[in-house]
Amino acid sequence: MGIAVNEQQKLFTLTTDSAAYQMKVNAWGILLHQYYGGKTDEEDMGYLAQMWDVSFAGNPYETGRDRTFSLDVQPQEYTSNGVGDYRINSIEVENADGTRGTDLRYVSYRIIPGKYALQGLPAMYGEKEDADTLEIVLKDTATDLEVTLYYSVWEEFDIITRAVKIKNGNQEPVRLEKAASVCLDLPYGDWDMMHFHGRHAMERQMERVPLFHGIQSVGSTRGASSHHHNPFVILCDKEATEDYGNCYGISLVYSGNFEAQIELDQLNQVRAVMGINSQKFAYTLQPGDEFITPEVVMVYSGEGLGAMSRKLHKAYQNHLCRGKYKKQRRPVLLNNWEATYFDFNEEKLLEIAKGAASLGVEMLVMDDGWFGIRNDDNTGLGDWYVNTQKLKGGLEPLVKQVNDLGLKFGIWLEPEMVSEDSDLYRAHPDWAFTMPDRKPNRSRFQLVLDMTREDVRDYLFEKISKVLDSANIEYVKWDMNRSICDLYSADLPKDRQAEIPHRYILGLYDLLEKLTGKYPDVLFEGCSGGGGRFDPGMLYYSPQYWCSDDTDAIERIKIQYGTSFAYPISSVGSHVSAVPNHQTGRLTPFETRGVVAMAGSFGYELDLNKLSDEEKGMVTEQIERFKKYYDLIHYGDYYRLSNPFERDDYAAWEYVSEDKSEALLHGVVLHAKANMVRIHVKLKGLDPDKIYRVNGTDEIHSGKALMHGGILFPRTSGDYQAVEILLTEVS
Ligand code: GLA
Repeated sequence: MGIAVNEQQKLFTLTTDSAAYQMKVNAWGILLHQYYGGKTDEEDMGYLAQMWDVSFAGNPYETGRDRTFSLDVQPQEYTSNGVGDYRINSIEVENADGTRGTDLRYVSYRIIPGKYALQGLPAMYGEKEDADTLEIVLKDTATDLEVTLYYSVWEEFDIITRAVKIKNGNQEPVRLEKAASVCLDLPYGDWDMMHFHGRHAMERQMERVPLFHGIQSVGSTRGASSHHHNPFVILCDKEATEDYGNCYGISLVYSGNFEAQIELDQLNQVRAVMGINSQKFAYTLQPGDEFITPEVVMVYSGEGLGAMSRKLHKAYQNHLCRGKYKKQRRPVLLNNWEATYFDFNEEKLLEIAKGAASLGVEMLVMDDGWFGIRNDDNTGLGDWYVNTQKLKGGLEPLVKQVNDLGLKFGIWLEPEMVSEDSDLYRAHPDWAFTMPDRKPNRSRFQLVLDMTREDVRDYLFEKISKVLDSANIEYVKWDMNRSICDLYSADLPKDRQAEIPHRYILGLYDLLEKLTGKYPDVLFEGCSGGGGRFDPGMLYYSPQYWCSDDTDAIERIKIQYGTSFAYPISSVGSHVSAVPNHQTGRLTPFETRGVVAMAGSFGYELDLNKLSDEEKGMVTEQIERFKKYYDLIHYGDYYRLSNPFERDDYAAWEYVSEDKSEALLHGVVLHAKANMVRIHVKLKGLDPDKIYRVNGTDEIHSGKALMHGGILFPRTSGDYQAVEILLTEVS
């Protein structure tokens, strides 16, 4: 078991395969953080603490004349507030008397076999043998505010998950203004921060920066985790590379407003705090009420960034994603969005389906425009009934005909939204967020439904059920196409309006839980204008997520590279689209588009009937190839072999089977050059002692040679040529 408690010393050590995490209760009941890093067994790491007087760093009253302990200096597990620690804090409470002090002291602990669950929130799950849980209870010195810290230890993945429960034990209400999921103090080291920023159609661009003194923070106030920042940050040694150095990934299992704050303090200590964004957040706790924070997943690697990602991939694939398709091969789909946009009808869809079926595609996804009155993006959202002008016979006969072609059928929905020009809005204008006496901000000409309301969720549950029951629908693309503002809920009293952003997400999770529970065989794919809510919270309900509205293969290399730091390949929705690419106008070879889209949940986003015969042949061949490599790509180990933010000559990545008997190297030559210089790539993750055959030819090399010496890309001509090298063990 990964939890050791030394009762006498009040020392708690959490141990995973290669990491240790340690905390200790000091003489005054303060829960100190002592260590997080490579395995140190149960040794008391307190000797590393700086215990001397620091000017302008005050001391708790109980320490008397001893000035060596200060909350402003010592690393802590979950900080107090307003009582002498001037760094970023974990919690902010307005007490019943209007004061804002919170001084948390240790009360008790409990060890529980298995993983904790969080009521109403997504979280990693497992069997008793997968994880163990430590609960530590802290209490404020002056009020009956109780804070329970949860830690689950996942030895196999070097992961510790955390969450916090805050309970108002007082006789009067208190107002919670900040409730972080994690506070992680790293008192020594020289760190870089990596984070993943972006915009619509250019999500999760990796940025690595040295820390400056002060607070650096990323986050979202858009009501969704957002295209702009992802709820995942990494702290790593300055020297850390893909294969070397200490890395700590911090991933928040939440789909709404979040903040990640990293402070480098006066003593060069680092504190990382992450959780629900404290801007636009307040929550009233009535006597006896509890607030549960979202879960945070901390992953440690002492062997670089690549190992960190692989641990997280496996953990998320096996213990976060759920449902039938968690481990079952997902159908290769064709989505009609870029093929037709809003301009389609039954005949057009069937034509597309016919062409797709004949080439090996396994599912047709009918995207936006099939419902209400919806010929562009100004109208119809909320009216989840068939537009019989486009689909004359309704859904059932269309789906049947598609099924008869041998294809499954999937459908697009954007449940959280409403168009002003819709029957739903005309009937229930108060269901959309607008503030009294103000005109709402329109985005894509649509408003956001108040998901905090049960009647809204009930309506959506009923309408979506009706759609899904009306025909053999086996897939849902759940979209969400704007940022959220104009927050006002007619259902909530004045003093609870600030709770809307969090209540919205709880409402969304509630609806998703009910729907995925009712339709366990339906594959849900998340989407938010592409990857605007690509986060672990959504992966709990949908094992794949449309990665970006940018389908350009070359841009996708960067987007998918950034995405791969936290999220498994199986979760990345990725399609081959037409050229010139609709977002960038770029021309890329068909094969390259295929190879890039295979780094995910593979599909097509174009009318295959419009391809040349040669390209059609390539579709069939790509699908066969993807199916052949499916296990290797989705369940193998993923290695980033190049950083597309650093080099513009080539990109390369690799999948290795768990038993190391097979590896697939994919690459793209980004820049054609005259008199080309060889491109040389070192393989990773192979068995040094195995012998591998190259692309089924007579060429064979040892794992040692391929990893130390590497391999050459074949000579190519023309921009953006794809390279594929399959290595199979010679038996
Ligand atoms: C979003 C999605 C697209 C498509 C459109 C439809 O932008 O990301 O894939 O579904 O909506 O309006």
